[in-house]
Amino acid sequence: MVIVLLAAQRSGAGKTTLAVNLAVGAGNAMVIDFDPSGPAVEWSRRRGKSWPVLVGVNEDSFLDTLDFAQSNRIDWVFVDTPTHASADLLSFVLQYATMTLIPSRPGLLDVCAAGSTARLVRGEGANGVMVFNGIPPQTGRMTEGLIREAMIEANRYGLPVCDRMVAQRADLQKSLITGEGVMEASPDSKAANEIRSLLAWLEDECFGYGGNPTSVSARVPL
Ligand SMILES: Nc1ncnc2c1ncn2[C@@H]1O[C@H](COP(=O)(O)OP(=O)(O)O)[C@@H](O)[C@H]1O
Ligand SMILES: [Mg+2]
Repeated sequence: MVIVLLAAQRSGAGKTTLAVNLAVGAGNAMVIDFDPSGPAVEWSRRRGKSWPVLVGVNEDSFLDTLDFAQSNRIDWVFVDTPTHASADLLSFVLQYATMTLIPSRPGLLDVCAAGSTARLVRGEGANGVMVFNGIPPQTGRMTEGLIREAMIEANRYGLPVCDRMVAQRADLQKSLITGEGVMEASPDSKAANEIRSLLAWLEDECFGYGGNPTSVSARVPL
């Protein structure tokens, strides 16, 4: 079972969006929602389906929930955390995470805000990458320059930047409203391809080393 932690102490970075979309793409998945305001739980309520399994937890119930996932042969667990998650909570969950994704908008201030989470992951010696999310979809020099600057800034925090990035896509927002994943709602869209690509990267990282997810190491930045 692979456990993917979504963490970023910045509101609107894309933790919940990526958690639920990756879970839909992964199929045999559970979403664990640590956010007391329950955004992923709300998405699941709108969805009205029994998969991915969605469970709201706190520190006391987390390990029992992992046991439940393991005994039900769930392959993927995506752990969504609140923006104001304490360092203690994140350190606790990091002990069990195969990989941590730190989503960040590519703006300078966004990357700086993600830096404290990146330092924490690095400090715990855990596997983690920053994932740029919400990149302006237009191509060209402006976007390239923005990403280059953001990568330089991200590297200061000592974690690699994932080479799979997610643009700002209306399809992602629309699918959340209907309780779907974008891979279901618009399977041929650019947004769906980006989520698919991020999931494929996770598969390589977490299962690609003789099937032992604890042996993964995060990739070096591009
Ligand atoms: N790549 C994206 N394209 C379009 N909208 C996005 C994207 N990522 C996030 N959003 C939207 O931004 C808002 C905040 O995202 P969310 O996943 O809730 O962030 P977080 O969980 O980190 O606070 C949501 O309304 C979500 O639909
Ligand atoms: Mg959220």
